Amino acid sequence: MLDVQSLTKRFGDKKAVDSASFSVEKPAMIGIIGRSGAGKSTLLRMMNRLSDASEGSITFDGQDVTHLRGKDRRAWQSRCAMIFQQFNLVPRMDVVSNVLHGTLNRRSTLATMFNLYPASDIHQAINILDRLGIAEQAPKRAEALSGGQQQRVAIARALMQDPDIILADEPIASLDPMNAQIVMDALRRIHEEDGRMVICNLHTLDTARRYCDRVIGMRDGRIVFDGSPEQLTTGVARDIYGAGADFSEAATSTAIETLDRQSNAQRVPA
Ligand SMILES: Nc1ncnc2c1ncn2[C@@H]1O[C@H](COP(=O)(O)OP(=O)(O)OP(=O)(O)O)[C@@H](O)[C@H]1O
Ligand SMILES: [Mg+2]
Repeated sequence: MLDVQSLTKRFGDKKAVDSASFSVEKPAMIGIIGRSGAGKSTLLRMMNRLSDASEGSITFDGQDVTHLRGKDRRAWQSRCAMIFQQFNLVPRMDVVSNVLHGTLNRRSTLATMFNLYPASDIHQAINILDRLGIAEQAPKRAEALSGGQQQRVAIARALMQDPDIILADEPIASLDPMNAQIVMDALRRIHEEDGRMVICNLHTLDTARRYCDRVIGMRDGRIVFDGSPEQLTTGVARDIYGAGADFSEAATSTAIETLDRQSNAQRVPA
């Protein structure tokens, strides 16, 4: 389905992504991990064509999307929706209008100017919000919602495009452990129930291990690991993060696991 070959991004002399290659045969949930500056965001941005590749290629279902321009590029971008750490909603606009923004690329300029949406799109937006457990937030301004709710609105906006791939750049990095879990559960369900591919940059090992079928580790722009969560041992993780013998997994933990242990403990009868 997806084939990334020798993808490289140069900023001056520096290679932010250095000849990255991987392919995905069938929709999977994939985590990309690595320390700050490893090239994770640059890789996702090239895939979504927010940023042009310096070298290499990206092919999806047989179509080379590396150099698409104009209308074709926008069509590709709606097939691979992007979600960001900072949600990127319009804060003062209501939730349902934010979600309807996901249909922008298939609407006329005039309809967009006057905020005209077909009733079927509005119904669909509400249904998606309902599926994510936040339908009752629909009339509120986006800025009035919690971070976890805002990220779910961003996911709803992405789903409005009916994408084949969801690219998520650190979707839980600004959230507390409980909201992080809600958002990761939502992404996992979207993968499992809809069969969409989800590729997620994650800061933390435990989240990648827990939610992803496959983990790609990046270091200095290169892919240095590509395997199952089971293969991602502490030794491998130390190598990806370029850490010394004092490497501690706890330092890369979101504490989702800790939260789970706590709630399990609470369930034990006294
Ligand atoms: N627009 C840019 N101009 C110049 N250098 C850039 C640009 N964007 C990224 N870089 C550099 O490319 C490298 C990779 O950056 P990138 O943002 O992809 O890393 P990352 O793995 O996403 O890091 P983080 O975990 O902090 O988000 C870094 O050294 C960064 O400074
Ligand atoms: Mg990044």
